[in-house]
Formats: sequence, C-alpha cells, structure tokens
Amino acid sequence: MGTFAQNRRFEAHRAELIHSLDDPSRVGADASFVYFEDGLLVVDETGQVAALGPAAELLPTLPPETTLLEHRDGLICPGFIDAHVHYPQTGVIASYGARLLDWLTEYTFPAERAFADPDLARAVAGRFLTELLRNGTTTALVFCTVHPESVDAFFAAAQARRMRMIAGKVLMDRNAPAYLKDTPQSGCEDSRTLIERWHGKGRLSYAVTPRFALTSSDEQLARSGELLAEYPGLHLHTHLSESEEEIAEVLRLFPDRSSYLDVYDHFNLLGERSVFAHGVHLQDADCERLADAGAALAFCPSSNLFLGSGLFDLARMESHEINVGLGTDVGAGTSFSLLRTLNDAYKVQQLRQHSLSPLKSLYLATLGGARALRLQDRLGNFETGKEADFLVLDCHATPLISYRMARAERIEERLFALMTLGDDRVVREAFVMGKSAFKR
Ligand code: GUN
Ligand code: ZN
Repeated sequence: MGTFAQNRRFEAHRAELIHSLDDPSRVGADASFVYFEDGLLVVDETGQVAALGPAAELLPTLPPETTLLEHRDGLICPGFIDAHVHYPQTGVIASYGARLLDWLTEYTFPAERAFADPDLARAVAGRFLTELLRNGTTTALVFCTVHPESVDAFFAAAQARRMRMIAGKVLMDRNAPAYLKDTPQSGCEDSRTLIERWHGKGRLSYAVTPRFALTSSDEQLARSGELLAEYPGLHLHTHLSESEEEIAEVLRLFPDRSSYLDVYDHFNLLGERSVFAHGVHLQDADCERLADAGAALAFCPSSNLFLGSGLFDLARMESHEINVGLGTDVGAGTSFSLLRTLNDAYKVQQLRQHSLSPLKSLYLATLGGARALRLQDRLGNFETGKEADFLVLDCHATPLISYRMARAERIEERLFALMTLGDDRVVREAFVMGKSAFKR
C-alpha cells in the first residue's frame, strides 16, 4: 500500500500478480513471495512503483485521474534479469557439434570479428534488445566484443530503450586470433574511455570484462584489478570453471595458483560486484571464497547442456549462501527465454538429485538476479520506489499451456507449468520504467 503524492499522475495495472520477497531456500517457501489473485500495481509518472496490493483494497484509494489498465487473464511479475549473455553471439546460437574451446575457435571468434564495424554492431544490438524484451528480459549483464565500437553501439541502443543494462568491452590479449586481440595497455585505455563515457549514465553501468583466464595475460588481469580499484561501482564480469578441458588449461597456464578462482583472486578481481559465469566445477574452498567476497555466480543451464560442460550444483551454492543469478549465455545457450532456461535448470537439478521449486525459479529469474548484480535496491520485485520493469504473462499462450492451467490449482503449480511449457509466446507485454516496451 502507499499514499499518493498530490502532484503526481499514476497508472494502475490490474491482473493476477506475483513477486518474490526473498530466497525461498533461506526464508522458506511461504515467506518468499506475495501473490494476489486480483492485484493492482500502481506506477508513478517517473516509472517507479508507487503501490501494490489487492485490487479491491487499493482501487478506492487511487487519485481520481489515475489511468486504470486491466490485463484480463494476465499474470503480472517483475521483468526477468539475464545474469550472463553475449549480444554479439546472437547469430552464433545453434552452432553444431563442439565443446567449449572448439566452439570458441570454430564459431564464436570468427563471428565476433565483424563487430569492429559500428553499423553491424548497431544493427545486432537493436535486434538483441528486441529479442530480450520479446522474451521478458528487461535487464542483463552483457558481454560485448573486444572492439570499443561494439560497446558504444550496445549502450546507445539500451539508452534509447531506457533499459537498465550492465556491459563492457572484452579484454583478451592472448590465445585468440590476431584480429580479436588487444594489449594490456590498449585494453585498459579503451576500457577507461568507455567507463567515462557510459558508466552511471542513466540506467547504464560498466563491467570490466576479461573474457576468461585463458585469453588474458598476467598483466591484463592485473590492470583489470586496477581499473576496478580506480572507479567505484564497476562490475567485474568473466567466465569461471565452465568445462573440464578449460580448467586443465588454466591450471597449466597458471601453475602457481591453487585453483581457477585463485587466478582471478590473485589479480584482485573478487568483490561484491563480481559475476562469474558458470562455476560448474568448483572446490569447497572456492565456494567459501566466493561467499566471503560477496561475489555471484551466473547459472547457465542451457549453455552447460548445449556445450556438454557439466551440471551446476545449486544446492551446494545455497549451502554456501553464494548469490546466484540465471544466465542464458546466448550464443552457447539456445534460447533468450529465461522461462526456457528455467526448464533446463529444473532438469539439470533433477540430475543433481535436487528439485528446483517454482518459487525458487521465480526468485532466480527476478530478485535473485537483481541481488547477483547488486541491483536489488532498484529491481527484482515491486517494493515501493523500485523501477517498474514488469511483465504481463499469458497463462493461455498456447493450447497446451491453457489445457494444463485448467488443471492447476495453486499459483506454484501454475508457475511451474509456465516455466516448463512456456517461452517467448507467454510474454504478452513488457514494461520498462512503467511504459510498454513490447507487446505481442
Ligand atoms: N569462455 C570464454 N569465452 C566464452 C564464451 O564466449 N562463451 C562461453 N560459454 N564460455 C566462454
Ligand atoms: Zn558466456
């Protein structure tokens, strides 16, 4: 509930409504969410959440000039947050037959080469953001390429859509084709220019983005740590312990380090805004270190299955109280849809003898992602004052979903059906800062 400032205008969205309050694995299922069968989400003219509650209680309190939008048969939830994705790999999705290191060499590096061209980068950035919104993703942590042009194109496209995005220039100065390599010095200088141009501008922020330990020299990793120390509020975004072959190679290249994570730790890359994609093969000592540092992992089940990388151990991360978000990791992931990704997440956890609950899944795709990216003060649920990025989902998007819904009673059961059977077709409308940004 809330009181409504006299001098502001409001829009009220009426539908079935759900959002997360906390991680069900910490507070239990019942305390982890709020659900209204007939709910109202009130957004002010600045695009922030002004109030939330049951429609019957809230409607009579609204200022008379409030616009009421009724989303019949819709289910309102917060916008999805993709904690790890590569926009330049939009065209690499569904590339056949390789595991991580060969997949990078055969498909990914050649495709990233084209992003030296600003026109191409602009076109793909636009296509990518449209694809995110169609799938209900309103915020993401995004890899660009080694080319500064790819970052300018991405941030400009995000700014035009008013989407909250975190991204950065890839740093890679070894073990890559010459056309994709920077140097410790050029990588650092280009990053600094981009940070000053984009970091903290509106809803944008910058992530220092060494690709992974195999493609950065000691000097480049050291300079990445220096950049983080130099500018407050930057993220660190990289890959960690994804595949067995990759890990063996990292340990060969860094014989003095005790683990893959220890390579990053040694160069001062671990902090509260550090997000490591994958973490499929970690030791307990690594988990403890990640938890101590307040760093996050991006769980990317679709990618891990597609590249045959391994099965992420979510229950173990829960026991270590590590922040975990959900990543599509397109183009190794095979869908932009976090619903489809949750379907894969469920099956991966089944193989780990762990049943991923629908409430935990909702949390991972929304508030858990916000916490992993340290955006929980602004995003992730409908607390008053947060930015109103939200979705209207359609529980009758396909004949099969509709048929299954008729047999589901509790909201948990309905959510599970959406996550197991749903994809972009379920997203009827996506709102960014209270304004419709995509409509089917
Ligand atoms: N490790 C280093 N680069 C990449 C990448 O582009 N995708 C994935 N999945 N893993 C990586
Ligand atoms: Zn990745």
